[in-house]
Amino acid sequence: MIFILLFSVVAVVQGAPDPCPSEIYCHGPLLHTIQMASIFKDSKTFVDMKMKWNTSETLLRFDDMMNKTGSSPTIEDVKVFVDANFDPAGSEFESWLPSDWREDPLFLKGINDRFLKKWAEGLNDLWKVLGRKMKDEVKENIEQYSIIYVPNPVIVPGGRFREFYYWDSYWIVRGLLLSEMFDTVKGMLVNFLSIVERYGMIPNGGRIYYQQRSQPPLLIPMMESYLQATDDLPLLEDSIDVLEKEFEFWLSNHTQFIDKDGVSHRLALYGDFSQGPRPESYREDVNSAQWMPTENDKNAFYSELKAAAESGWDFSTRWFINANGSAYGNLTNTKVRSIVPVELNAILCWNAMLLSKFHERLNNTVKAEQYKKISDEWKEAIDKVLWHEEVGSWLDYDMINNMKRDYFYPTNIAPLWTGAYDVEKKEYYVSNVLKYLDKTNIKVNVGGIPSTLIHSGEQWDYPNAWPPLQYIFIVGLENTGDVHAQRVAYDWAEKWVRSNYEAYAANHHAMYEKYDATVVGEGGGGGEYEVQLGFGWSNGVVMELLDMYGDRLTSSTAEVPTEPPANKASLQSLGTAQYLGQLVTVALAFSGTLAAGAFSALLCLRYQLRPGYNKLQSY
Ligand SMILES: *[C@@H]1O[C@H](CO)[C@@H](O)[C@H](O)[C@H]1NC(C)=O
Ligand SMILES: *[C@@H]1O[C@H](CO)[C@@H](O)[C@H](O)[C@H]1NC(C)=O
Ligand SMILES: *[C@@H]1O[C@H](CO)[C@@H](O)[C@H](O)[C@H]1NC(C)=O
Ligand SMILES: *[C@@H]1O[C@H](CO)[C@@H](O)[C@H](O)[C@H]1NC(C)=O
Ligand SMILES: *[C@@H]1O[C@H](CO)[C@@H](O)[C@H](O)[C@H]1NC(C)=O
Ligand SMILES: *[C@@H]1O[C@H](CO)[C@@H](O)[C@H](O)[C@H]1NC(C)=O
Repeated sequence: MIFILLFSVVAVVQGAPDPCPSEIYCHGPLLHTIQMASIFKDSKTFVDMKMKWNTSETLLRFDDMMNKTGSSPTIEDVKVFVDANFDPAGSEFESWLPSDWREDPLFLKGINDRFLKKWAEGLNDLWKVLGRKMKDEVKENIEQYSIIYVPNPVIVPGGRFREFYYWDSYWIVRGLLLSEMFDTVKGMLVNFLSIVERYGMIPNGGRIYYQQRSQPPLLIPMMESYLQATDDLPLLEDSIDVLEKEFEFWLSNHTQFIDKDGVSHRLALYGDFSQGPRPESYREDVNSAQWMPTENDKNAFYSELKAAAESGWDFSTRWFINANGSAYGNLTNTKVRSIVPVELNAILCWNAMLLSKFHERLNNTVKAEQYKKISDEWKEAIDKVLWHEEVGSWLDYDMINNMKRDYFYPTNIAPLWTGAYDVEKKEYYVSNVLKYLDKTNIKVNVGGIPSTLIHSGEQWDYPNAWPPLQYIFIVGLENTGDVHAQRVAYDWAEKWVRSNYEAYAANHHAMYEKYDATVVGEGGGGGEYEVQLGFGWSNGVVMELLDMYGDRLTSSTAEVPTEPPANKASLQSLGTAQYLGQLVTVALAFSGTLAAGAFSALLCLRYQLRPGYNKLQSY
């Protein structure tokens, strides 16, 4: 009898797994009761709290509370229960001062405008505020936390994001490399590698409730950035298998075949493999789904929301497909799992290129060849399915209606960022893209490139402008080497830097997670929570733009550069060296012969860390 009952319970949940097994943090009556009671303004607060006892003891006490309240506790009952059985959110961390932090990283020297330089120093200081180390007792009592244990300290985004986030870390890591915090970066990479070993993938963020969804896969590019700065081949050698394992996760769990002109092309989509609402936004999801007739409808909807979270764009009209195939509607129109996104494919193609390059460095020619083939096929698929000559851009693809989604997103040009196109046809792509961008009329935006041109109130829509999207767009254009494209890139970089600077100067050194594309110096809004401060990727992106353009950029139109423009010829001749270690030597040799020797040496370090620098030369 007991057996039969158990089996039927198992059968009910067999469709898809819960977001994680925990009956406290991921699913079950306790989570449901507490989250639906709305005792915290932000649903994420509860799932980040520490249990005072183990899981079974906590569940027992919950049963007891439910029994005493006839299974309908008041909000006050729930509050009392949570206070008595949980410690505040964020108890797993202590602040941590990175031991490799330094006051005067070289990149500062390349920034001419004195206000911008002072700001860059302030951004460099912020790493000390955003450093987190797990308390020792976390490892011993891991069951009492929702945190995913990692061996090394991390730099977190900030605000409610009190643990690592996957794609955020790419821009944080690049900022840290400019700050010459190589040990911190290595520690973060080792953390990610250990997570891939344990989970087979990297979750959206460092909490167990994120473990059924990932984020744009940038671990391999992070490794590339780190190698460019340190040439730490032993780490690459130790981790190559794990890097391949993560890539394999995306290949096997996130790709579909799409027929185009009689040929089948493999392309990737964001997805989700679990049932139930997002534990950290439980109440919001349940409420959004309340009018859906069946559990299956609700679970399908929850999966779309989780897949949107995997894309990093949670939420956006970019993922809406309504009855006529257009991007209008509301959250219930979210159909991420049926949209082939440009940037995900550009990134995965890049992953394959980098794995090929890594294997080449490790003298494994067979595997180098194998990944080269994968990347070539990916480039072909991106061209055939996502490129549209009549539009002049790559576009997302709607698999429900088998049609392109002709909307402007900064990610439309992501292949330029990652080099996910046939370089022989570069001029063709670039000239088309420039005409396309002109037609979109995005230039009217004074504060940055908007996420979309649709105003929906969702946070990845107009007028919000997000740091990673500025980066993908600006670096994409810069990487082409085309003079016109680079001028457009510079103009956007200037707008972005000035707007971020104005917000910083006017609001007690605030760095926001997002900004308003239509107002200089204004943070973004909309979405599910207040605009957050900190902020990892914002700092990283600004640091890199200051590094790329610091010889020219000014904090306002009134400021003029105080030093003459850098000597481009010498920079380019230095630019062909492979890695930082060699560069320091080359630069030192140069410094004796050049009048502004030290200055040039520093500049070439800056150029070495420039995004996509080796990438475009190698493929
Ligand atoms: C949980 O804690 C209770 C009370 O401290 C203890 O009796 C029980 O053995 C623990 N259970 C597990 C699985 O550790
Ligand atoms: C709650 O009530 C149920 C049913 O009456 C009982 O089986 C269970 O032991 C009770 N739990 C606690 C913790 O008192
Ligand atoms: C990925 O796919 C493989 C094979 O189809 C499956 O065994 C594995 O469980 C999947 N992983 C996840 C995290 O869904
Ligand atoms: C599609 O539907 C939306 C409203 O749901 C409407 O605003 C839009 O004009 C329609 N587009 C087309 C092409 O019919
Ligand atoms: C969202 O759109 C659906 C389908 O078009 C509609 O039934 C529902 O009422 C809308 N919900 C809200 C909150 O507007
Ligand atoms: C690869 O081969 C070259 C030339 O034989 C050798 O110098 C180098 O050390 C090898 N690298 C690795 C990582 O094995």
